[in-house]
Amino acid sequence: MDCSLAWPEPVVRVQSLSESGAHTIPARYIKPLNDRPCPTTMSDSNVSIPVVDLSVDPEHAIQAVASACREWGFFQVVNHGVDPVLMRHARDVWRAFFHEPMEVKQPYANSPKTYEGYGSRLGIEKGALLDWGDYYYLHVRPASLRSQKKWPALPSSLRPTTDEYTQELVKLCRRLMQILSKGLRIKEGRLHEAFGGEEDGACLRVNFYPKCPQPDLTLGLSPHSDPGGMTVLLVDDHVKGLQVRKADAWVTVQPVPDSFIINIADQIEVLSNGVYKSVEHRVMVSSTAERLSMAFFYNPRSDMPLAPIAELITSERPALYQPMTYDEYRLYIRKNGLKGKTQVESLKTVQN
Ligand code: OGA
Ligand code: NI
Repeated sequence: MDCSLAWPEPVVRVQSLSESGAHTIPARYIKPLNDRPCPTTMSDSNVSIPVVDLSVDPEHAIQAVASACREWGFFQVVNHGVDPVLMRHARDVWRAFFHEPMEVKQPYANSPKTYEGYGSRLGIEKGALLDWGDYYYLHVRPASLRSQKKWPALPSSLRPTTDEYTQELVKLCRRLMQILSKGLRIKEGRLHEAFGGEEDGACLRVNFYPKCPQPDLTLGLSPHSDPGGMTVLLVDDHVKGLQVRKADAWVTVQPVPDSFIINIADQIEVLSNGVYKSVEHRVMVSSTAERLSMAFFYNPRSDMPLAPIAELITSERPALYQPMTYDEYRLYIRKNGLKGKTQVESLKTVQN
């Protein structure tokens, strides 16, 4: 890849723009008319992504999750077994990090080589339009990539809290993988096995969306599907922002306190041979409230080609995707930034 060691132009922290008090946003953040958030979408209606209670009868949960993954690619889970106190603490320490002075954050500035650290853009195209958000990206698994030294040292409880939080989320993801497998009527360990078993991977991206003086002109995160396996998202309990594509509309997710938002990402769409959908989503920003979200990306082992699971290929439904390793796959997003679903579409064996 020609992802050089440096960004194509100086990095501007969105938080600095926000704190400058300017009433207008720089041209780089203004989206073309058709891409701007539209206040008259289904956002005000009662439609929302399904909510699944994981403490109910397991067969019921399996069916509810499977139907959400087929219809929406998204659902919220409640009674998921992760301590809400730990969840709130994780959000609080990361919010405190973003509120540290710039001198504390800048030493962690990231580069497009690994993306690890404090960042403000995705993709390396010079002059590209930018999103209204900063983030912190770190590796959780495999152990060989995990290095707490690359995680912020301040506030001092950030490292132990992030460590505990991410361990809990790995457990939750492995449990969800069993539920997803059963919903496909394959062996309960099958998806996890296809992810490389104990060699499964995980990363965390903490997104920080500062207040924006012109929220109607921009987005916190452009439309994209997540490249990995499955995403477990923890959002602000009260500040909305995430929108999910449903047919031609954008549906705003109504956060349920203490829940997680789960979405299928591209690699599970591929393994399930298109039964479970990796759905496009985007983030709106606000002029009155900043927003923090924690996206935990649960991913397959990265050096092994992934293709539809053999049991899900039939003569009526041949393999819809070509095999590719996750290492190769994620280079696309690292270079091109967020581009809707164009990447997983390019793996399709029959283009439509
Ligand atoms: C992501 C993402 C949504 C949000 O980080 O991939 O889609 O609400 N985040 O911040
Ligand atoms: Ni996403």
